[in-house]
Amino acid sequence: MAVPECAPQGELYRAAPDLCQAAHVPTFQCYQELYHRSLEDPADFWGDIAKEFYWKTHCSGPFLQYNFDLTKGKIYVEYMKGASTNICYNILDRNVEKNKLGEKIAFFWEGNEPGNTMKITYSELLLKVCQFANVLREQGVKKGDRISIYMPMIIELVVAMLACARIGAIHSIVFAGFSADSLCERILDSRCCLLITADGFYRGDKLISLKQIANEALQKCKEKCFPVKRCIVVKHLGREDYTFKEASNQSPPSKRMHLDTQVPWNADVDLWWHELMRDASKECAPEWCDSEDELFILYTSGSTGKPKGVVHTVGGYMIFTAATFKYVFDYHPEDVYWCTADIGWITGHSYLTYGPLANGATSVLFEGLPLYPGVSRLWQIIDKYQVTKFYTAPTVIRLLMKFGEKPVKKYNRQSLKVLGTVGEPINPEAWLWYYNLVGNKKCPIVDTFWQTETGGHVLTPLPAATPMKPGSATFPFFGVVPAILDEFGEELEGEAEGYLVFKQPWPSIMRTVYGNHERFETTYFKKFPGYYVTGDGCKRDKDGYYWITGRIDDMLNVSGHLLSTAEVESALVEHAAVAEAAVVSHPHPVKGECLYCFVTLRDGQEFNASLTEELKKLVRRKIGPIATPDYIQNAPGLPKTRSGKIMRRILRKIAKNDQELGDISTLADPAVITQLFSNRCQTGL
Ligand code: WT7
Repeated sequence: MAVPECAPQGELYRAAPDLCQAAHVPTFQCYQELYHRSLEDPADFWGDIAKEFYWKTHCSGPFLQYNFDLTKGKIYVEYMKGASTNICYNILDRNVEKNKLGEKIAFFWEGNEPGNTMKITYSELLLKVCQFANVLREQGVKKGDRISIYMPMIIELVVAMLACARIGAIHSIVFAGFSADSLCERILDSRCCLLITADGFYRGDKLISLKQIANEALQKCKEKCFPVKRCIVVKHLGREDYTFKEASNQSPPSKRMHLDTQVPWNADVDLWWHELMRDASKECAPEWCDSEDELFILYTSGSTGKPKGVVHTVGGYMIFTAATFKYVFDYHPEDVYWCTADIGWITGHSYLTYGPLANGATSVLFEGLPLYPGVSRLWQIIDKYQVTKFYTAPTVIRLLMKFGEKPVKKYNRQSLKVLGTVGEPINPEAWLWYYNLVGNKKCPIVDTFWQTETGGHVLTPLPAATPMKPGSATFPFFGVVPAILDEFGEELEGEAEGYLVFKQPWPSIMRTVYGNHERFETTYFKKFPGYYVTGDGCKRDKDGYYWITGRIDDMLNVSGHLLSTAEVESALVEHAAVAEAAVVSHPHPVKGECLYCFVTLRDGQEFNASLTEELKKLVRRKIGPIATPDYIQNAPGLPKTRSGKIMRRILRKIAKNDQELGDISTLADPAVITQLFSNRCQTGL
């Protein structure tokens, strides 16, 4: 690893000396020493971190066992197998009892409507979790059962997930922006016996009737012969215990006058959360779980179109999310931390819930949107709670950049110490805006590269230690060994560009695809035996810095979330007018990438604006608003190889109006190209 001091002047950004003084990892040399130790003796390194947690029994066997080489047998990873613990106990009971943090705020909840707030301490959270865990047990939920959670960003969502963890049930959280079809598909895949949802919520000024969508999903499950036995519903829209401390003159708007009668109810299945909680006992013994027992399933898009249930296990996930949170955000007890991600994504699991709570941190849990009710909302919240560590996505930064400096400067943001980004490569322009303006040139930016599959940060700067380069995720976290491979699987040394892979496991790497271990093996371990393949392209510069160049498969990254082109194509071909569809990613100034769809219609069908609208709606309904296509183009013919494979490489160029098509000698019918160029959508390119 190169010492960055050698890099040319002007390229590197360094943390201010006062931040370094108090930091857990104050210098780059200190990072290097710890990194080397983490590789030389992983059992010792991670064992020390594990010692901070409570283990009911310790493991007698090896600390780590694994196989990463498919040619040698089954792929598996086991950390501390045989040891038993409970992650909920560790992040709540241990913090309340041993660390005396009972009175500390776990979450400041900031509702969609400004002034609509709540807060909850560690002991209050523990109490609610115990009560809800008892509710689940009373409903017959046992260790290993799968529970689906489909909720807005409210404290009950955290309570529900931790209650599952407490009794050893496996939570499967489905982002509340997903459609009924997507929810149904996920419930069926993991065979969930119970669903937890809410009556509804507001996103900005838009009402989302969540229970109604959930009902549609449950109806679909029933039609597919999988009736879900119970649905527990939080009364969120109709709740009475909001505390309107400030701004009582401007809220709550009458639109929140939501009546129970408006919530579609099925008395055989549905139960109100608050009614169950009223009678629930406050004591709940945790279920002691093996370190390798499943903690949760979280679905992520797969290149074949069917989402993959990524499985994470208790022990490794606990120590890795705790350690990354501590080091990457340089966490200190007085911090107020805010991650804007939704809990329905992995970022919300690892860095809004498990990682911060494991460290006894105080966080902001925000239900709303960056532009509602005004474009200064995020900066206002930062000042209001005196946020010190702020974690968001490049798409959010680019969105806010459009409104210029003024809305940011309305607030002073003096409390900020460290800024973070996640989800996609951050373009240097956005990086500099974030650094210079939002952070007042005094906050290091941690550009954290990771995936649903990695469970936690794998490439990332440490704020005080790592000199930053705008746009680079810099260096590996402790215990993580990246490599760059060429087409033939050869490791490239020094300055290079190729496939980003990892050579050995770290504690929170996913263990399997739920119900389909073979898919896990083929997706991540087949292409290059002996390596975990991320699916991202990557370049290493002369100083050893890693730069993610984007996906190299048929996946696209819309607003920091992966979608597969296949998933969208299969939604499009469900329309009676569509014979064939091919979807490619297209650059988008705010979302990073967006969907550009080519559709071939059946004979006799007409391509017009109303069909385009129908198709957009269909994709929304099948997958969710995040997948709404930006462009749909009529494609009487698609560029195909002689064996019939669609050449998406060419379609991407057509979408961009790029006439440099490269080698088209394998194209079966070159005539389609001219036609496709003339039918292009107006994209501004
Ligand atoms: C993909 C994973 C991890 C939580 C959010 C997304 C891209 C993520 C970065 C970054 C460049 C990034 C990659 C990765 N990605 N973070 N800092 N720089 N690219 O989770 O939906 O599992 O997506 O997001 O392409 O493979 P996900």
